[in-house]
Amino acid sequence: MDKSKLLCNECNMVFKSKVSLNKHICEMKEESDEEMDMMIKYSEEECKNINYKKINKNFTFIDLFCGIGGFHIALKNLGGKCLLACDIDKECRNVYLRNHGINVMDNVYNLNSENIPDFDILCGGFPCQSFSNAGNKKAFEDKRGLLFDEIIRIMSMKRPKICILENVKHILKVSNGMVYKYIYNELEKIGYKCFDVIMNPNEIGIKQNRPRVIFMVIRGDLYKNGMKENIINKINELKKIYYGMNHKKDIFEKLEDVDKKYMLSEEVCLVFDAWNEFINNFENKKFGFPIIVDYFNEKENEENKDWKNTYIRKNNEIYNENKEFIDKWYNKYKNVLEKKAIYKKLEWQVGVIKSGDKIDNYFIQLRQSGIRVKKIDYFPSLVAIVQVPIYGKERRYLTPKECGRLQSIPDDFKWNSVDKHTYKQLGNGVNTNVIEICGEALLLNVNF
Ligand SMILES: C[S@@+](CC[C@H](N)C(=O)[O-])C[C@H]1O[C@@H](n2cnc3c(N)ncnc32)[C@H](O)[C@@H]1O
Repeated sequence: MDKSKLLCNECNMVFKSKVSLNKHICEMKEESDEEMDMMIKYSEEECKNINYKKINKNFTFIDLFCGIGGFHIALKNLGGKCLLACDIDKECRNVYLRNHGINVMDNVYNLNSENIPDFDILCGGFPCQSFSNAGNKKAFEDKRGLLFDEIIRIMSMKRPKICILENVKHILKVSNGMVYKYIYNELEKIGYKCFDVIMNPNEIGIKQNRPRVIFMVIRGDLYKNGMKENIINKINELKKIYYGMNHKKDIFEKLEDVDKKYMLSEEVCLVFDAWNEFINNFENKKFGFPIIVDYFNEKENEENKDWKNTYIRKNNEIYNENKEFIDKWYNKYKNVLEKKAIYKKLEWQVGVIKSGDKIDNYFIQLRQSGIRVKKIDYFPSLVAIVQVPIYGKERRYLTPKECGRLQSIPDDFKWNSVDKHTYKQLGNGVNTNVIEICGEALLLNVNF
C-alpha cells in the first residue's frame, strides 16, 4: 500500500493502516487552513438588513455550568430572565455575581426539585475537558463526561420547553461517535427532540476560529414537523445579519491604551527576531511540518512514533541542505533559543514564505508544540490553558478586553482582577453572539 496516502494532512503523522488513520483525531484539524478557507464571507448586499429587530420575548432560563455567563448575556439580550445559575468554580461565581447580580449555586449535583424553580429554557456549556482535543479523550471514563447526565436528571425533573447545550465540535467523534449517540439517546428517552448545528464565530464576522456544536433540544409536545428546517433557515438568515454587524468591528485596543504588561518580553522578542532571520533564508518555501532545532541532527529510530520519524527526516533534510546557514544562525541565537524548549520549535502554518515575510505579520501562540504562526484572518480558539494569542504586529498579547470581544462580550464587563483567571474563563466560554442566534431561531419557532 502507498504509505503516502496514510499521512494525516494536518500534522503529518504517518499511519500503519487506514483504520488507525481514520481513528486519528488531529489536534491541528480544528484550526486547519482548509476549514478557514471554507468559511463563508458575505457580500455587503447579502448581509444588509435594515429591518432586523431582535426578538424580545418573556421567558425564564437556568444557566448550568454557567462560567462567567456567556449564555446569560445572550439570553438576556433576547428578553430572558435568569432564575438560577450554577458553577463549581469560585472565581467564575464571583465574576457572575458582579456582572449578573445572581448568587451562583456551587455544584450541579446539589440541585434538586426543591431548589430549582420552574423555568422555560435550560442552557449549559457542559464541561468539555473530557471531550475536547485539549483534554485526555477518555470521555466516559472521565467523571466530568458524566456531568451531561446531570442535565438529563434536571430536565426529567423540571421538563423545560427548550434546552440549548454547547460543546466542542470534537464531541461528535469521541469514542467513535458513541458519546454523540449517547446524548441523542438520553434526550430521546426523556421525550425531547434534538438536532445540532455547528457554529463558528468567524462565520458571523468575528475574528475567532472556534467551531462548536450546539445541541438544540425541544420538548416533544412542542415540536412540530418542519421545525428543524425552519430553525436552520432562520439561523442562516441571522448569520448574515450578524456578519453585517460584526465584520467591520476592530477588536484591537489602541496601542497607547494597552498596559505595558501585555507587551512581549525582550526574551520572546529576541526569539521572534531569530526565527524571522531563519525564515528569510527560505523564501518561496512552504513548511508542512514543524521546524524543530533538536531534530536537525537527530536520527530516526524504530521505537519512535511514525510521525516523529517523519519530522526528524524532514528536519534532517532542511539542515543538510542549509547546514552552513543554520549553523551560523544557531550560534548567533543559541543562548536565547536554549532557554525554553518551545523556542526551538516553529510551526509556520501560513503557507509559502514571501519575500520579507516575518512572524510579526501574523497571529501567534506560544504552545507546548512550539511557536505557532497562523493567518491574520482569525485568531485560533481561545483555550482554557493559558496560551494567550499574540498580536504579532504590535508584539503583544491580546488584552482581556480584546479576548472578550472575540467572545462578543461587552467592553464594560467586569473581569477578575487576576488576568490568569480571566483568560481561563474566556477560553472556557461561549461566543455570546453564536448563542444569541441559536436562541433567537428557537424562540421564533417554538411556540409557548
Ligand atoms: C465549558 S465551561 C462553561 C462556560 C460557560 N458556558 C461560559 O460562557 O462562561 C464549563 C463550566 O462547568 C463548570 N463545572 C464543572 N463541574 C461542575 C459541577 N460539578 N457543577 C457545576 N459546574 C461545574 C466549570 O467550572 C466550568 O466553568
